[in-house]
Amino acid sequence: MIIRKSPAELEKMRRAGLLVHSILTEMKGLIREGVSTLDLENVAERMIRDAGAKPAFKGYYVPAAGGKYPFVLCTSVNHEVVHGMPSEKRVLKSGDIISIDTGVQLEGYFGDSAITVAVGEISEETRKLLKVTEESLELAISQMRAGNRLFDICGAVERHVVSNGFTIVRDFVGHGIGTSLHEEPQVPNYVDKRNENPRLKEGMVLAIEPMVNAGRPETKVLSDRWTAVSRDGSNSAHFEHCVAVTSNGPWVLTRP
Ligand code: MF3
Ligand code: CO
Repeated sequence: MIIRKSPAELEKMRRAGLLVHSILTEMKGLIREGVSTLDLENVAERMIRDAGAKPAFKGYYVPAAGGKYPFVLCTSVNHEVVHGMPSEKRVLKSGDIISIDTGVQLEGYFGDSAITVAVGEISEETRKLLKVTEESLELAISQMRAGNRLFDICGAVERHVVSNGFTIVRDFVGHGIGTSLHEEPQVPNYVDKRNENPRLKEGMVLAIEPMVNAGRPETKVLSDRWTAVSRDGSNSAHFEHCVAVTSNGPWVLTRP
């Protein structure tokens, strides 16, 4: 069942979304050569606590990993796809790309968003990877209209990524979001005909999160049980927004 949110609930999700946005904006400003991913984690955790919010990821139980995620951020560098863990040993260098994914719970409602940022100078090919991934998210957002269907969102991402020669990660998907971090429906970044194709209605909120590889789409999880990487070692990009369906069209809760 897809839970629809009232206008008052959407206002709460908006506040959670704007907090997530302010954290990601701060992270963008801090990212440069010489900064460790744990430095970023520490600033982000402080911001969440100061806002009177709770981190959505820290303490979140993931059965596949067999435990609770230990950080407020996922920091996934280069060929890391998702769930990279902050570490003082992971020091950013020019030419890296880093995805920062974070979520918060505020007044009972969740916000969840991710960006991928270049460190110093990156290659032309990698710049295109970031651009195409972000564009695919924007195309998906524009499909978040009452009367459209879930596959309109999935297909918008898939077409743009595939037509630009990159590949879609199939092992992780977007999701509904509300009073839980993960609600129905799953939101794959490709049309999966095995799934249902529900019609979008006012009050539905989806966390849309394309994960795109420069090379092949397969992933594997490292021995730390969390970090997912591309099997072929190619770079991977990730952008995410929470988006509500409203009578005025798509409302991106995780940006101003
Ligand atoms: N944005 C991801 C998601 O929505 C991050 C979850 S990390 C976890 O699933 F540790 F909380 F699982
Ligand atoms: Co998410």
